[in-house]
Amino acid sequence: MLILGVESSCDETGLALYDTELGLLSHALHSQVEMHAEYGGVVPELASRDHIRRVLPLTERVLKDANKTLQDIDAIAYTQGPGLSGALLVGTSFAESLAFSLQIPTINVHHLEGHLLAPLLEDNPPAFPFVALLVSGGHSQLMRVDGIGEYTLLGDTLDDAAGEAFDKTAKLLGLGYPGGPALAKVAEQSKSSGTNPRFKLPRPLLNSGDLNFSFSGLKTAVLTLSNKHQPLDDATTADIAWEFQEAVTDLLTAKSMSALRETGLDNLIVSGGVGANSKLREKLNAATKRKLCKVSYPRLEFCTDNGAMIAFAGAMRLKAMHGSGNKNYSFSVRPRWDLAELQKP
Ligand code: KG4
Ligand code: ZN
Repeated sequence: MLILGVESSCDETGLALYDTELGLLSHALHSQVEMHAEYGGVVPELASRDHIRRVLPLTERVLKDANKTLQDIDAIAYTQGPGLSGALLVGTSFAESLAFSLQIPTINVHHLEGHLLAPLLEDNPPAFPFVALLVSGGHSQLMRVDGIGEYTLLGDTLDDAAGEAFDKTAKLLGLGYPGGPALAKVAEQSKSSGTNPRFKLPRPLLNSGDLNFSFSGLKTAVLTLSNKHQPLDDATTADIAWEFQEAVTDLLTAKSMSALRETGLDNLIVSGGVGANSKLREKLNAATKRKLCKVSYPRLEFCTDNGAMIAFAGAMRLKAMHGSGNKNYSFSVRPRWDLAELQKP
């Protein structure tokens, strides 16, 4: 079966075609990063309007790239939530209307389930069950995954998400938007090292005995540190960025390893935008290797929002439902939607 995937939950319009026999055939993305950069964050109304402009040309592009026509599509999977309501409405109404006109089923996908399953798009995917570290702009969660829709929350952030902490800290250091990649790049310029850091930031909840995270104190510690060193020169900014990245990646690595130990599982998957961070990958690779565990990531471009993960999650659900998606073509969006509410298909 051929599934068209539609992602429009935030500031990226993503389209993809996934074939249940042949795998991913094509995908296309338009990122609004440049448009929002001058405001220092996503402006929801601008995001919705831009999704409207992009969704049709991107659909045409994925069809052309895969040498397919609209009539070849068997089902349409789209992100129903969580996300910005206006942005979600664009993808949702587009997907449901197109499916209605083609009289094919739709599958409403949870954005985080898309992220969670994205590593399975790669070669030699891990088998269920596994532990998932989901680290995006809005979430920092550890989950036990026993199958599609079988997610048990093991740990969560008590305040900011990891990506949000990167973004806010980058802003406070005067770095660009989005903050994660900008901060990671600046940190590379630091002369600090593990044995010789110029600054030392706290590792909140490192020894809390549970699998929860807290990042807002870290951001405050960065603020205090940078206030002490005003005006910040490039070297100091790099050294603070370096230590911040160390602190966040230490915490994510330590808690992921604890989650593997507590569940007795030996497979970890990492997804979401922060999963693109190379320091995090370096630390997780080393830690899992030491414990004879395996860690899997999506390719870099599928760490952040994309249509391929939505098409794939939709395909997995459709397969589990033996090809029967929704065919009533009514729709609503779910800007707030807890992953724990998801059911086995
Ligand atoms: O998964 P995603 O694209 O969107 C959400 O669903 O939130 O994640 C975006 C987040 C942003 O906070 C961004 O700063 C962060 O992922 N991010 C990174 C890196 N690339 C993206 N954080 C740290 N290092 C990176 N290389
Ligand atoms: Zn996302």
